[in-house]
Amino acid sequence: MTRALSGIQPTGDTHLGNYLGAVRHWVADQDVHDSYYCIVDLHALTIPRDPGQLRAKTLETAMILLAAGLDPARCTLFVQSQVPEHTELSWLLECVASMGELRRMTQFKDKTAKGGETEARVGLFTYPVLQAADILIYDADLVPVGEDQRQHLELCRDLALRFNHRYGDTFVVPEALIRPLGAKIQDLQEPARKMSKSSESPQGTLLVLDPPDVMRRKIRRAVTDPGTEVRFDPEGKPGVSNLVQILAVATGRPPAEVAASYDQYGPLKNDAAEAVVELLLPLQERYRELAGDPKRTAAILEEGAAKAQRVASATLARAKDAVGLLPRGRVVG
Ligand code: AMP
Ligand code: TRP
Repeated sequence: MTRALSGIQPTGDTHLGNYLGAVRHWVADQDVHDSYYCIVDLHALTIPRDPGQLRAKTLETAMILLAAGLDPARCTLFVQSQVPEHTELSWLLECVASMGELRRMTQFKDKTAKGGETEARVGLFTYPVLQAADILIYDADLVPVGEDQRQHLELCRDLALRFNHRYGDTFVVPEALIRPLGAKIQDLQEPARKMSKSSESPQGTLLVLDPPDVMRRKIRRAVTDPGTEVRFDPEGKPGVSNLVQILAVATGRPPAEVAASYDQYGPLKNDAAEAVVELLLPLQERYRELAGDPKRTAAILEEGAAKAQRVASATLARAKDAVGLLPRGRVVG
């Protein structure tokens, strides 16, 4: 069976882009691949976080994933920091990665564009190396993610290939699994930007836990484009195309067909709003149930971490051996 691994940050709030670009595929993938899903709390530390909030959001993110349909009987759901092998492998990979290739990462460039590099945390720079460790430590074949992760996945492949070349075959070289539809949901207020946890655009970010009326309002107030024609053209009509895409993914129809059935923005917005509410309502109901019993989720995470750790520790031992680290208690020669 092929193995899939993916991760999500427990920061901000889980939004429609996360759901359409990643989480809904993870749910479907559970029965197709041996699936590992990781809440990447260590990655969240690359920018300032309140400790209490980080802890609360980590549990909340787990509940959202379970409410979306991840099933601990069919996948392994765990918290990154509970499997310390990731950070140890990350160090080995840092000694394979180069400054130049990390400096080319657009996410690092974007996040340091305003404040400059000097004050940026080193962890923000090495972020993609830890991400590579998350993936390689599970011998993952596939990594289902949204479009914004393509470059990080290329780096991960480069590191795996270089390590294998230098030290002998150690890692599976993974592939990004980016589905064409829903992989890039844009901000509802600024359709030139992706919907993001870190953006300061609360009206443009539709949260999976937003009450239905709030979802409806955000979609009805979405920024559209000049003119009145509805067509699917992400370059020329980014605002309208984003709504068309959301409606298309929510209803499982091709975007061109969705666009062709509207000649005004108003009805498109209304239908997109209703489709999103309908799509997310079952998740919200299950979330409320789970939120009433946090111990249940904590127990699921505990079991997930134990299972993940069994796989991770074996891969880590292989990698340490490959680079020549002396195992405890073994005399060589
Ligand atoms: P993050 O919120 O950065 O932890 O992302 C978790 C997953 O959601 C990753 O696979 C991302 O690629 C995906 N994702 C994040 N934002 C979007 C978006 N606006 N559209 C589609 N997928 C997204
Ligand atoms: N960097 C990813 C994001 O922001 C999160 C992530 C961390 C991840 N480790 C991963 C995604 C491993 C896939 C596989 O979305």
